[in-house]
Amino acid sequence: MVDRTRRKIAVILLGPPGAGKGTQAKLIAGHCKVPHVSTGEILRENVAQGTDLGARAKTIMARGELVPDALVCDMVAWRLRLPDAERGFILDGFPRTPAQAGWLDAFLENEFFDNSHTGKGLPVVVQIEVDYNQLLRRLTGRRTCPAGHIYNLYLQPPRVDEVCDVDGLKLVIRNDDREEVIRERLAAYEQQTKPVADYYWGKGRLIAINGDLEVPQVTAQIEKVIEQHCDGNF
Ligand code: AP5
Repeated sequence: MVDRTRRKIAVILLGPPGAGKGTQAKLIAGHCKVPHVSTGEILRENVAQGTDLGARAKTIMARGELVPDALVCDMVAWRLRLPDAERGFILDGFPRTPAQAGWLDAFLENEFFDNSHTGKGLPVVVQIEVDYNQLLRRLTGRRTCPAGHIYNLYLQPPRVDEVCDVDGLKLVIRNDDREEVIRERLAAYEQQTKPVADYYWGKGRLIAINGDLEVPQVTAQIEKVIEQHCDGNF
């Protein structure tokens, strides 16, 4: 049952590969009690299940390039229309091009925010900033469990080598965390996704935070931004 007295909330986490978007989105989603929507995770699930979408995305993702806007926007529309996202969501990895950002603005205005709620009708856009060398260390050391929990060999190791603390599953290296693909992903970010930050900056909506700190300190900064946006009402 959706509590209609609570404010609707749409949070967008921006930042380069390895900035900690997924790590933070999971924590913030738990705090705000809204779903974490990761386009990368949904695409990887489609690849694993061999769907049509997965078949089209597989080689593109393996090269570290972006999946076409139309495919991703359709996928996000489907996800955000599910009942669990009615009161809000934390977006991780979307939007990633100016076209996706424009599409999302229209979606939020037409389908998400409405006058029956007390929300300000704008998303909270947080840019997680991290030093380039730190990004490389985070990406090369990342290990994930099939259920989505994220670790890092150097920075956030599991208690037992290569085993998830939460569910005991064997940790794996993501297919696109190979060095040559990491370089391609970082280049795609510079060319295609940085303009998204400029887009929100131009609208006065972008709030940058320091992502070089430890996980709880980064979480605290994001929570503060959200609380200020919602006047503590979410
Ligand atoms: P996606 O899955 O979105 O990957 P990404 O954006 O490259 O981001 P990452 O998941 O690599 O990093 P993250 O910022 O989430 O960091 P994490 O929390 O894991 O996309 C994958 C692919 O899908 C794309 O390349 C593209 O092909 C396609 N795609 C997805 N969305 C698309 C879209 N909208 N349009 C088109 N194509 C799309 O953390 C990284 C590591 O650092 C972990 O090991 C973690 O433990 C560690 N860490 C995190 N925070 C800290 C901290 N504060 N201190 C120390 N360690 C930390």
